[in-house]
Amino acid sequence: MNTTLSVAVLSGKGGVGKTNLTLNLAWALHGQGFKALLMDCDMGLANLDVLLGITPEGNLQDALLGGRGLAEVLHPVAPAGFDVLPAASGVPELNDLSPDLRAALLERLEPLLGNYDYVFMDLGAGISETVQAFAALAAVRVVVITPEPTSLTDSYALIKVLNARFGLRDYMVVVNQATSAREAQSAFDKLKGACAHFLQFEPVLLGHVRMDKKLPEAVCRQQPLLAYAPGSPAAQDIQALAGRLQRVRLSMLDWLGKRGVLQGQE
Ligand SMILES: Nc1ncnc2c1ncn2[C@@H]1O[C@H](COP(=O)(O)OP(=O)(O)OP(=O)(O)O)[C@@H](O)[C@H]1O
Ligand SMILES: [Mg+2]
Repeated sequence: MNTTLSVAVLSGKGGVGKTNLTLNLAWALHGQGFKALLMDCDMGLANLDVLLGITPEGNLQDALLGGRGLAEVLHPVAPAGFDVLPAASGVPELNDLSPDLRAALLERLEPLLGNYDYVFMDLGAGISETVQAFAALAAVRVVVITPEPTSLTDSYALIKVLNARFGLRDYMVVVNQATSAREAQSAFDKLKGACAHFLQFEPVLLGHVRMDKKLPEAVCRQQPLLAYAPGSPAAQDIQALAGRLQRVRLSMLDWLGKRGVLQGQE
């Protein structure tokens, strides 16, 4: 029976902190004893490998276009079930995943995914076909926003498109780069208000991550924040988010048990 929770991490605007959040959430959950797979689904501008300071021996594109096995291109970050599925940057065929390639990917991915408690998909910003496809395949969607007005309008547009195209109405929001819980709540309330008014449903707030100068430092050192500065404010916030995500997973176990890992909400 499936117990794996697939999580698509999305944003309207670029550079809001998706990749760092995804990496550190997976790191935190692995530290709590869970098995995690981190898929770099930003096939235009992949950079999970850079953030981890690793040189993968293969990537998703090699597996999809070059005939290598997916299991062969998994890169172990930690021995006990923390793997990265790297992507290569600048492979135009996969920028907008065709339906054929998507089907091939799914067929080959699904058997691997049951080994993990969590499968995170770090997506590119915006609303490309690939982003939409992965967003719809995941069991849950995390939308990362910042308090900036442009981030709010772009994330609303993303949610609107996913709702119109796939009927998706469930979104968990993380407010990143917030200076306080109050600022985060106020940013979330604006997005929630727009969704409630125009789309007749409300996203939920998973939590916020504070603006933290340790984060760019960790990026420059090519280490996850949780390894570089585990006591920093943003690291503490991400640990709290990981705990909340685990409660979400536990509350969904019955539902997850009745479906494939990448079956979306249909
Ligand atoms: N909580 C934070 N505090 C301070 N700086 C942050 C925080 N989160 C992200 N940043 C900064 O934002 C930069 C971009 O982060 P990241 O690469 O994770 O964003 P992204 O949403 O994945 O970008 P893209 O849309 O290009 O994929 C980081 O390198 C870091 O400098
Ligand atoms: Mg990114």
